[in-house]
Amino acid sequence: MVKICCIGAGYVGGPTMAVIALKCPLIEVAVVDISVSRITAWNSDQLPIYEPGLDDVVKSCRGKNLFFSTDVEKHVAEADIIFVSVNTPTKTRGLGAGKAADLTYWESAARMIADVSKSDKIVVEKSTVPVKTAEAIEKILTHNSKGIKYQILSNPEFLAEGTAIEDLFGPDRVLIGGRETPEGQKAIQMLKDVYAHWVPEERIICTNLWSAELSKLAANAFLAQRISSVNAMSALCEATGADVAEVSHAVGKDTRIGPKFLNASVGFGGSCFQKDILNLVYICECNGLPEVANYWKQVIKVNDYQKSRFVNRIVTSMFNTVSGKKIAIFGFAFKKDTGDTRETPAIDVCKGLLGDKARLSIYDPQVTEDQIQRDLSMNKFDWDHPVHLQPMSPSSVKQVRVEWDAYAAAKGAHGLCILTEWDEFKKLDYQKIYDKMMKPALVFDGRNVVKAEELREIGFIVYSIGRPLDP
Ligand code: UDX
Ligand code: ADP
Repeated sequence: MVKICCIGAGYVGGPTMAVIALKCPLIEVAVVDISVSRITAWNSDQLPIYEPGLDDVVKSCRGKNLFFSTDVEKHVAEADIIFVSVNTPTKTRGLGAGKAADLTYWESAARMIADVSKSDKIVVEKSTVPVKTAEAIEKILTHNSKGIKYQILSNPEFLAEGTAIEDLFGPDRVLIGGRETPEGQKAIQMLKDVYAHWVPEERIICTNLWSAELSKLAANAFLAQRISSVNAMSALCEATGADVAEVSHAVGKDTRIGPKFLNASVGFGGSCFQKDILNLVYICECNGLPEVANYWKQVIKVNDYQKSRFVNRIVTSMFNTVSGKKIAIFGFAFKKDTGDTRETPAIDVCKGLLGDKARLSIYDPQVTEDQIQRDLSMNKFDWDHPVHLQPMSPSSVKQVRVEWDAYAAAKGAHGLCILTEWDEFKKLDYQKIYDKMMKPALVFDGRNVVKAEELREIGFIVYSIGRPLDP
């Protein structure tokens, strides 16, 4: 029986391994993590991450061929294939600070693999890493090999949160990069055989190591660039009276462009886009390509601009001050159908409003009060460390209240901001919300989920991203 071990039971490792276990009943899959609380949660009825469909997959294989454990060394020693899916934070100090990836967790995982292994292993990069990480990992492993043979593969994950299970069941493609030697090709084939249990062969792309590593950074950069492009257009739409939804629709009808990923928003968030682009920028700079680096940097600059533009719009619409005013925030997660808040635009928007002394009343169906408080008091980039190593948040932010109901959050508020496109925000009784708000009652829709015309009929002043403003 083939044994797989995945180091890191996070948003990538957990769902991916659960699906491998489901689709390959004859493979034993162990997911290990240094965080005791995470593993305890994976073994409980309350999984540590919210992801539609995940509960069913985990329940049907846990205890059969899927195991969650903190006994990292035992499972690594026993495995034939080891996936590594640990944190790769952006460095906050030293060489490359603010851009380069900090490979501390990766390196410690590699050294541990070298320490405990007693048989040949295939080591698979699953978390996104800078190009040429495989080379560094290979060095650590081969220089500590004690005669054991290692093959390094890059198998980047393309799942998106909120649709992870769907994406894993029917991926557009699976990408496997490896060495172009006979041993490298054999390792690629072995991993290919795992995916071949459910992914059609023509969707499994095999490349060299560097192409696979770079493809992941490139795919995320292209996706983020689409959003920054449509967000840049949204600013122009507001200035000219065009409607960004109409522009996106017209543009997306061109089959060369396609309709997906063209929704203007308050900005993109998530653990990958910004981090991967910063990584790409750093790699370009290190390779003497400043023009290429600057091109990609602009994608992040436009994203930051979009968030600050949104805050400015709120403050100016409220007579240039939000000091002491209550503002309701609907949605804190970086997108719908996830409780994940990593790099969510809500953090920058809330911090911007708090900077102007607003009082915030936040509601999100999946994000806890503790998480919101942590996010609003943490320094940039600190989120990407294992939870128990994150700096403890100082005292909670006093001007923030977290509510468990949208109506409670909006009561007595001067303004209401929609920052995540949760479906339930489309179905709220906005008349009831209006009746309990201060007047004039303003709505700032950062995700274009409400029907602006209907809200205007009720009496709201409505600002939607990239749409004509109130007359
Ligand atoms: C992304 C990639 O899609 C995925 O392939 C990769 O493996 C990890 O990074 P994820 O971050 O989970 O996935 O979510 P995604 O759906 O890509 O959304 C990222 C951000 O862009 C969200 O904040 C989302 O709200 C925003 N977005 C997305 C827009 O603002 N407009 C769009 O049209 C699409
Ligand atoms: P991703 O979104 O890429 O899955 P997460 O931050 O959700 O990232 O998950 C990474 C996980 O890796 C965390 O749960 C963390 O505790 C774990 N981790 C980090 N370093 C190690 C290590 N050396 N051994 C085992 N687990 C680790």
